[in-house]
Amino acid sequence: SDLWIPNSNCSTCIKECGNAVFQAAKSKSFKANGTSFSITYGVGKVSGVTASETVSIGQISIKDQGFGLVSQTDTCSSFDGVLGLAYPRASVTGARPPFYPMIDQKLVDSSIFSFHLKSGDGGSLILGGSNSSLYHGSLTHVNVTQQKMWQFTMDYIGFPSKKCRRCNSCKAIMDSGTSLIVGPTEDITQLNTKIRATYNATNGIWQVPCGRISYLPVLELGIAGKKFQVRPQEYVIAYEGDVCITGFMDLAGLNFWIIGDVFFREHYVSFDVEQNRIGIAKAK
Ligand SMILES: *[C@@H]1O[C@H](CO)[C@@H](O)[C@H](O)[C@H]1NC(C)=O
Ligand SMILES: *[C@@H]1O[C@H](CO)[C@@H](O)[C@H](O)[C@H]1NC(C)=O
Ligand SMILES: *[C@@H]1O[C@H](CO)[C@@H](O)[C@H](O)[C@H]1NC(C)=O
Ligand SMILES: *[C@@H]1O[C@H](CO)[C@@H](O)[C@H](O)[C@H]1NC(C)=O
Ligand SMILES: *[C@@H]1O[C@H](CO)[C@@H](O)[C@H](O)[C@H]1NC(C)=O
Repeated sequence: SDLWIPNSNCSTCIKECGNAVFQAAKSKSFKANGTSFSITYGVGKVSGVTASETVSIGQISIKDQGFGLVSQTDTCSSFDGVLGLAYPRASVTGARPPFYPMIDQKLVDSSIFSFHLKSGDGGSLILGGSNSSLYHGSLTHVNVTQQKMWQFTMDYIGFPSKKCRRCNSCKAIMDSGTSLIVGPTEDITQLNTKIRATYNATNGIWQVPCGRISYLPVLELGIAGKKFQVRPQEYVIAYEGDVCITGFMDLAGLNFWIIGDVFFREHYVSFDVEQNRIGIAKAK
């Protein structure tokens, strides 16, 4: 739920990662706050101080948006910062996530934002609505069960053709900020062994020969009484040479599922912050 960008004094960001940085001295609308914060993600950690500034995205400009100014990172990334889209309760900096002031200040037409991340076309994020030309049929809605992350009840996940079915009305979060599908260790091991993926302890990934992709089964997620399928072409990812990795990863101690971009590649997903529900349809 946090927005952060690298500060001009972040030496790791500049020297090692080559990120674009924020120069407070060049801005008249910048306001320092100075409360320190630190965020630990699945991969990497950032720390710095909070501040506020005019934040513009597309044609939308938000005045006095709180954000994090990062002066230390422990990993490099090709992106400069992060724009959080979960609920205010999950914010570490204490600032309201930008989509909320956008609604309050009537800068968007609706309380919905949506993602079209179908592989191939670069994808899009719509702030203030959804676009029915980007998906087939109508959206299936599922209510948010805890207003912190985009949490919902998943009916099941598995490979019906292999009689493999994990999760029985379990906790899951829909997360555009996670690349893979992440779940409890035992379930992830089951999914991976069902498709005869092998665990490589050197780098902690599940490998499959890329040549086997077209023989692998379709993954199915049950949500709100409907079936959503992900083809192996989307859940298997090219790694190096003819080694491919599966999109199923575990996180020690995790007792819920994180449905990441592996799912978004085949499904249009909308998030409604007023009606507290997620909409899903097969992406075009
Ligand atoms: C960077 O600048 C911020 C804000 O002025 C300050 O709080 C922080 O200590 C500085 N960090 C480093 C590594 O110089
Ligand atoms: C800094 O931000 C925090 C969290 O938003 C807020 O509680 C605090 O009052 C702010 N401090 C100043 C000096 O603006
Ligand atoms: C919806 O998406 C279609 C297909 O990409 C595009 O042509 C159209 O302009 C979009 N509509 C809006 C209102 O942006
Ligand atoms: C979802 O939430 C709405 C509003 O709280 C409620 O009317 C509806 O019955 C809920 N749907 C399900 C399937 O629980
Ligand atoms: C495991 O991964 C490492 C690093 O990518 C690679 O060098 C090695 O060949 C892999 N092992 C197997 C059995 O494929």
